[in-house]
Parts: sequence; structure tokens; C-alpha cells
Amino acid sequence: MENNDLATLDGVGPAMSSKLKSAGLTTIEAIAVTPPKEIAEKTGIGFNTVLNIAAAARKSVGVGFITAEELWKKRQNMLKCSIGSKNLNELLGGGIETQAMTEFIGEYGAGKTQICLTLSVMAQLPVEKGGLNGNVVYVDTEGTFIPERIFQIANALELDPHETLGHIFLARAYNSSHQCLITDHLFKFCPENKIKLVIVDSMIGHFRGEYVGRENLSERQQKLNSQLHKLLRITEAFNLPVMVTNQVQANPAQFFGDPNRPAGGHVMAHACTHRVFLRKGGKGTRIARVIDSPYLPENTARFKITEKGVEDAQE
Ligand code: GTP
Ligand code: MG
Repeated sequence: MENNDLATLDGVGPAMSSKLKSAGLTTIEAIAVTPPKEIAEKTGIGFNTVLNIAAAARKSVGVGFITAEELWKKRQNMLKCSIGSKNLNELLGGGIETQAMTEFIGEYGAGKTQICLTLSVMAQLPVEKGGLNGNVVYVDTEGTFIPERIFQIANALELDPHETLGHIFLARAYNSSHQCLITDHLFKFCPENKIKLVIVDSMIGHFRGEYVGRENLSERQQKLNSQLHKLLRITEAFNLPVMVTNQVQANPAQFFGDPNRPAGGHVMAHACTHRVFLRKGGKGTRIARVIDSPYLPENTARFKITEKGVEDAQE
């Protein structure tokens, strides 16, 4: 990859470099995509200096024009990771797509975490078997990652459970700033550790818990937006899928239809490429519905949670 020695940037000496690094901005790429205001806040470096550093970083990573032909070629490298359920794969046009962010939304117990756990096993499979042949980063904000469950899914798929666990890099995020720090670190961690899938479960939990009340909403949305755009950048830079989960919030003003809507408002809606809504169906089944996507039709699929992770459910 490109040169990631921060001290090679114009105006960055050893002291500045260590300030940036201790704020989690360990790569030139991360500096190029982080809003200058955020860099100034995190590092204590003056805003004007930050503007210069950010400009040097953007120049170094070559953020500029490409032709549509180049973009077309890049998109030919897109891969899809199978989820374990044929119905779900079909719903998503073959699986979870690289160079895109896929969001699973649903109430408690809808199966979001179970899909994350299943995917973190499936992504390790070779490409011919529907995987991405790589390692996984799992950002767990709720402490619901259960290694025993990975063990069980790997066994059911006849994989070596210890090896499978060894390929999942877990980051337990304790609050929203910790979560941001982890995201910044991904620019370095992903290419160095052959990461082919990044999961954030849940994207929004800490933000909702910490920024309570109308007066804090705009700051919350701004921070969330910055996070999401970095994750989107990671999907493109390293040709991998980012999968995030989101909760629902009740809308008391809605009299007809489902009163639950995705949390995170327009910021979440705009940043996520594909949005999938999960709900509980009858007899322990779950129903997934694509609610927003640039090219997937708004269909539904039925699945169930089993020892293999997630599997098809018959109507
Ligand atoms: P929240 O994180 O609370 O918002 O919910 P979630 O959408 O992440 O739900 P999750 O994926 O944790 O789904 C929980 C459901 O999965 C439970 O109600 C169980 O029915 C099912 N489940 C969890 N573990 C197992 C398991 O080991 N085997 C089977 N068969 N089902 C499981
Ligand atoms: Mg969960």
C-alpha cells in the first residue's frame, strides 16, 4: 500500500506525528478522510495547521478525478459474501457486497447479531464456497459477541472451530469515542491483517445512549455521519463489505402500519448502501425486507436461526 509514515507529510514533525497517532489517526488515509474540525478536537493541534496537514494528506493519497471507465473496472472486483440462507442471499443479489455498506435494522431479538455471527464465519470460506477468503473485524458495542456460538456454527459447517475463532479480530467498544478510535485504526489494521469483512454491532447504540435530548441531536448526528463515511471509505479502499446493525425507534405519531422506524435518521439512511429490515415471523421464523437500495428490488425473504447460524425457512 501507500506510504504511511506521517512524518513524510509536509509540516508534520515527530511531535505532531505522535499527537496524530495517539488520537488514533495512524495513517495518511485516515487523516485524508477525517473532517479537519474533528482532527483539531482530537489532537489539540490548531485548526489552521490541521487544514494544511489534511491538504497534504489528501494530495498524498491522490483524492481526485477518476474516469467512469476506471470506476467500472473497480466494480468488476466486487465480491459477495454468502449469509448461509439461500433466501437471504437472493434477497441481497447474491450476498453481502464488498465496496458497500449493508445495514440490518430490527427490534431486540430480530436476529441482527445472529446474522453478524454467521457472517463472521462465512467470510472466512474460500470464494468458490461463497466466502471472501479472509479475516474478520467484529466491533462489538453491546458485549453480545459469544465465542461459543461461533464454535457451534463452525462445527455445524464442519470447519475447525479454533481456527475459525482465530480469524476473528474482536474489538469491544466501550463508548462512542472508543468506537470512533477503533474505526480510525481500521485504515491501518485492515490491510495489515488480511481483513475481508468489517462488522459493527451495533452502529448506533452508544450514540443513542450518550447524546440524549434534542439539544445534543445535531452533535450526535455529525459524529455518526463522520463515522459512517469513514466506514464507507474503508469498503472502497480495501474492497470489503461493512455490515452494521441498527435499532428501531417507535414513532408515536404513526397511526397506520408499522410504528417502528430505523434509528439514526437521515444520516443512517444516506450512508448505508443497502438497508434491510428484520422482523419476527410466525413459528420462530424471521422475515427480512429490503427497504432501501440503489439496485435491489424491495423484496422479502424468510429465514430462521439454527445451530448453523441462519438458514432458510419454508413459508
Ligand atoms: P438486540 O441486539 O437485542 O437488538 O437483538 P438482535 O436483533 O441482535 O437479536 P439476536 O440476533 O441476538 O437474536 C436473538 C434470537 O436468536 C433469540 O431470540 C434466539 O431465538 C435466537 N438464538 C440465539 N442464539 C441461538 C442459538 O444458539 N441457537 C438457536 N437456534 N437460536 C439462537
Ligand atoms: Mg444484537
